[in-house]
Amino acid sequence: MIGIFDSGLGGMTVTRAIEQLCPGYPLLYFGDLIHTPYGSKSCEALTEYAIRNTEFLIAQGAALIVIACNSAASIAGNALRNKFSIPIIDVIEPAVNQAISTSKNGTIGVIGTQATIKSNVYAKNILARCPNYRVYSQACPLLVPLVEEGWLNRKETKMISKKYLQPLRCKQVDTLILGCTHYPMLKSIIQPRIGKRVKIVDSSIETALFLQNFLLQNKGIAKELAAQKANNRFFVSDLPLPTQSLAESIFGRPVHLEKVHA
Ligand code: DGL
Repeated sequence: MIGIFDSGLGGMTVTRAIEQLCPGYPLLYFGDLIHTPYGSKSCEALTEYAIRNTEFLIAQGAALIVIACNSAASIAGNALRNKFSIPIIDVIEPAVNQAISTSKNGTIGVIGTQATIKSNVYAKNILARCPNYRVYSQACPLLVPLVEEGWLNRKETKMISKKYLQPLRCKQVDTLILGCTHYPMLKSIIQPRIGKRVKIVDSSIETALFLQNFLLQNKGIAKELAAQKANNRFFVSDLPLPTQSLAESIFGRPVHLEKVHA
């Protein structure tokens, strides 16, 4: 099974994209809602949560992990790869690849949580491959709580997004990486505020495409994963009030969320 985790609802945008682009592989999702938001946590705490989430998913039968969380991937991605021997894919490399090939003027904006932006992971990866590019990053710490609260179309969310995006707009970025898996849910708010000509790189879709390609190139692993016949399962470490309906609006169908102690 493919195990996918995030702090909360954000990773479900990745899961939905994986369901669509990689059908036939059973999925296990874990949303660590008791610890959300991850973006404001220390590196130690994030690493501990990421290890615990991975152990939980492996114990449920996961044979490949997708870190569907930029914050966990930027801080704990290497720690997970060192500790576990199964394949671990994350959201950073796929978004970096896409942004590099999308940008025409070499000026890329990145929005993400405090943890992701402080790690500078996107700028480091882009500049390592394209030293003449310019990367401007902006932390948007209020956006995850607004999404988890279901404030997807409120005037407050629009106002706060505008404030966060203004500095990147001034830098004339032509490509914007949504460096947090919660942000695809705000795409219709973000696009007009960053400018309609700016290409948005959605790490959810890019990660699902990356996984699709990984499975095509690793036929042994793909076969082993597909052979594990099981229904997709969605685990959460807590179930706050808006989560059920938001999960269903992401998937467009009823979703059974199982509350567990991970
Ligand atoms: N969706 C996650 C990310 O991509 C985590 C956001 C959070 O919990 O702060 O960073």
